[in-house]
Amino acid sequence: MTVWIGARDPERGEAAVAELTKDGLDVRFVAIDVADDISVQKAAARLSDEIDALQVLVNNAGILVDVSTPPSQVPMKDIKSTFEVNLFGPIRVTQAFVPLLKAGRDARVVMMGSGVGSLALITDPTSLYSSVNLLDYTASKVALNAVAVSFAKELEPFGIKVNVIEPGHVRTDLNKNTGFISPEEGAQTAIKMALIGSDGPNGGFFGSHGRQPW
Ligand SMILES: NC(=O)c1ccc[n+]([C@@H]2O[C@H](COP(=O)([O-])OP(=O)(O)OC[C@H]3O[C@@H](n4cnc5c(N)ncnc54)[C@H](OP(=O)(O)O)[C@@H]3O)[C@@H](O)[C@H]2O)c1
Repeated sequence: MTVWIGARDPERGEAAVAELTKDGLDVRFVAIDVADDISVQKAAARLSDEIDALQVLVNNAGILVDVSTPPSQVPMKDIKSTFEVNLFGPIRVTQAFVPLLKAGRDARVVMMGSGVGSLALITDPTSLYSSVNLLDYTASKVALNAVAVSFAKELEPFGIKVNVIEPGHVRTDLNKNTGFISPEEGAQTAIKMALIGSDGPNGGFFGSHGRQPW
């Protein structure tokens, strides 16, 4: 596949592209700020100029503003900025790219959700996720699940499948590299759902062990 990497900062985006190109991969950079309507429209227009159809869209961008503030004290501005990227971002981007997804055959959309986006897991005392209490991040990921189900229903007649995945606890900037698994391992479920066949699921929630409870 030709992979378009979206990033806000052209220098960092191009640096990532250069690194992957060295490994012989066909990777290109597209500027996109998922929190900005105009930027998303420009990215969709740019890709429409460059390609006939989009096979896979991965809504990966996400932020975690703060892990230490109790829910009763999280500032509204943090809640709004979290929703802007984690929830409105995937909605904005998916809406903008629907024409390119429909232009191909059997496109796939992967939403990067989280284990803490599962109400079943965060209320299950035997689950590790029940010890996490992040008002803004968790609410944004729970809502993302509903958004994915909505898109999945609308786009099914076009052969498009939309699924949410949770990558596990991955060592990245998001958690100051405290995760248990590598980014390569964390990417596995997203890649799997990006490549499912026409007999694969639609409108589901998946982790490395398969289907997850909502
Ligand atoms: N790490 C985990 O354990 C874990 C667990 C569950 C779910 N997730 C989810 O996995 C996804 C990837 O997170 P990560 O762990 O890889 O975190 P990360 O290292 O912080 O990466 C997040 C990426 O999102 C980008 N981003 C943030 N705001 C953006 C915007 N407005 N427009 C475009 N890009 C934006 C960031 O770009 P900049 O570098 O420019 O800031 C960064 O490249 C997120 O949706 C996260 O919620 C992660």
